[in-house]
Amino acid sequence: MLDLLLLQGRLLNRDGTITAANIGIQNGVITEIAPNLMGAAKITLDAQQCLVSPPFVESHIHLDSALTAGQPRWNQSGTLFEGIEIWGDRKSSLSLEEVKQRAIATLKQQATLGTLFVRSHADVSEPRFIALQALLEVRAIVKPWITLQVIAFPQDGVYGSPANEALLEKAIEMGADGVGGIPHYELTREDGVRSIHRIFELAATYDRLIDIHCDEIDDDQSRFLEVIVANAIRMGMGERVTASHATAFGSYNNAYATKLLGFLRRTNINLIANPLINITLQGRADTYPKRRGVTRVKELWQQGTNVSFGHDCVQDPWYALGTGSMLDVAHMGLHVCQMTGMEEINACYDMITWNGAKTLHVQDQYGVEVGKPANLIVLDARDRYDALRRRPAVNYVISRGKLLARTESPRVMWHGTED
Ligand code: FE2
Repeated sequence: MLDLLLLQGRLLNRDGTITAANIGIQNGVITEIAPNLMGAAKITLDAQQCLVSPPFVESHIHLDSALTAGQPRWNQSGTLFEGIEIWGDRKSSLSLEEVKQRAIATLKQQATLGTLFVRSHADVSEPRFIALQALLEVRAIVKPWITLQVIAFPQDGVYGSPANEALLEKAIEMGADGVGGIPHYELTREDGVRSIHRIFELAATYDRLIDIHCDEIDDDQSRFLEVIVANAIRMGMGERVTASHATAFGSYNNAYATKLLGFLRRTNINLIANPLINITLQGRADTYPKRRGVTRVKELWQQGTNVSFGHDCVQDPWYALGTGSMLDVAHMGLHVCQMTGMEEINACYDMITWNGAKTLHVQDQYGVEVGKPANLIVLDARDRYDALRRRPAVNYVISRGKLLARTESPRVMWHGTED
């Protein structure tokens, strides 16, 4: 007897095609996919011809600061730097339990909305390691239903204060999955470059992934992405390396940007854009015309660079809004990046699913295929375009072969006249 049988699904395949599928699940693994598959099962669910998709992937979030908006004060300027100041005050009062509670609440919200793989940054610029310790504990607590990766993120810079470099290494020793950085916020350009070299060195020594907040600024002279690319090429670490934000890429002159796109083609690093946040944080020093402050997603996608979308913030000092919905993220992304052609809309859906899985380096666990762990969602949508246009309910979230969350689609009752 199967543990779970999902009937009448319309399965979204990796190549974008959709096929009729019943899906059998046993011991947390997808055992059969066939249009006419029937049989006894402990639980049978009817997908009612809705879209069956691999779960959403959140490739960039800060769970340690999530759900703190307005504490101790609101970000009035709306800038990244006021956000960093407010967080600097807020983090002095962090407690282990409180961070864990907020992180788990956010993950539950995300899982309900279809996300089952998450990469979070944890601020490691404070010696108590409250945020890191909390997120490492949360990683273990939520493991039965969601995969969480934790990146050691030196929010105040690797060389922003004398203790920070050692704190970053300690954080990796404590068990962070990846090494982070923020070169554009280091005190000098030279410190920024040095920080990237150090991050690569640490990642190589400790066999960790890399995810660097890179050039998250409107300064067209902020050029640390080229340093990441150079290190990735020289050390052969491309697919284990991610540059997050890279918003200055949107401000570079086209001659430089074209050269950089060419360099990126020589490696296979991943880029993450966070459109909800950067459309609001960036461009604050502009009058008009006002820049969009998002990296060159369309051009990167066109040349085959792996790009995913992240939420970045949910109700924190940088962004007071957010629900944790990856459909909201992709919806904003396709608007801001002007990716409204049908192929482009579909690509934006891929940026919150398969591309994110590639960034997180979890492809072996990802995808609705026989033999893979049974992680999938049933969306009340016809296809990727319909999903992004309407951002409908995720009717079923199946994680590790078990039904994790169920949401009914809203029902509208028309009380007007018939004609
Ligand atoms: Fe971030």
